[in-house]
Amino acid sequence: MKSLEGMSILITGGGSGIGLGTAQYCVNRGAKVTICGRRADKIEAAAASLGSQCRGVAADITVACDRENLLAVALEHGGQLDALVNNAGNMYRGAITELDEQELQDVFHTNVIAAMMLTGLCTPHLAERGGAVVFVGSIHTRRAFPGASPYAATKAAVQGLTRVLAAELGQQKIRVNCLLPGAVFTEINQRAGLMDDETALQRLQGMSDLHALGRIGTTEEIAEAMAYLMCAEWVTGAMIDIDGGLGLGITADPAITNRKEQ
Ligand SMILES: NC(=O)c1ccc[n+]([C@@H]2O[C@H](COP(=O)([O-])OP(=O)(O)OC[C@H]3O[C@@H](n4cnc5c(N)ncnc54)[C@H](OP(=O)(O)O)[C@@H]3O)[C@@H](O)[C@H]2O)c1
Repeated sequence: MKSLEGMSILITGGGSGIGLGTAQYCVNRGAKVTICGRRADKIEAAAASLGSQCRGVAADITVACDRENLLAVALEHGGQLDALVNNAGNMYRGAITELDEQELQDVFHTNVIAAMMLTGLCTPHLAERGGAVVFVGSIHTRRAFPGASPYAATKAAVQGLTRVLAAELGQQKIRVNCLLPGAVFTEINQRAGLMDDETALQRLQGMSDLHALGRIGTTEEIAEAMAYLMCAEWVTGAMIDIDGGLGLGITADPAITNRKEQ
């Protein structure tokens, strides 16, 4: 098992939520981390909060020259590239009868296409280090939430390409894995304009009973699994559910779950 100490890690979408939590976790364990996001103020503040081991880059991963600049900064900051975490992602929901084609293309662009292009760009550098790629999938491919087909389709794509890239890049000693987080309170729904912070938190906490472990997760708990996938040297092509048991399909009805009342 590798150590995070001394690793150079590039995390897309590291200005908030799971990306920021992962950056913090890796910096605390001695890694040099480069994070990016489109909002310059947000990414600069996030990087500053993590200190000199973290570098923030204002970059939109759907733009080719931004991806090139991002990689150049990560190589300059970390001296090499040991891991790429394809974490940046957006939510788009809607009934299948009402989808907007441009919005659908945009969400696929960020969640799937840009991550693939960035992975290709990083591959020669990761090959020099026997490095790792971690894609971020979602519980949305384990449980079907009506109205979330655009988002779920992007995450299913990410899971599919994880397996192909694991097979394709294994000869170069690059490991490619996918993490499937469950419900974690972040900015994703609020950024999509779907709800405010308070409603988002209430909605997620309202799902507590659907988890085998009775609660939603934290960004640190997701980061622990990200770190495992960056460091585990004989794991590739894996999908790891980190969801407190949300994906098991438990219903909230005590008559069905046979749970004792608290
Ligand atoms: N939270 C959950 O419950 C949950 C569950 C399963 C999976 N996930 C996945 O976890 C990942 C992280 O999401 P999160 O929940 O932590 O939400 P978040 O707090 O909204 O973080 C996503 C980040 O991605 C950045 N981003 C979006 N589009 C980008 C682009 N084109 N270029 C560069 N950066 C971009 C955003 O910053 P800017 O807007 O400044 O660009 C934002 O900081 C996503 O892939 C999401 O699908 C989340």
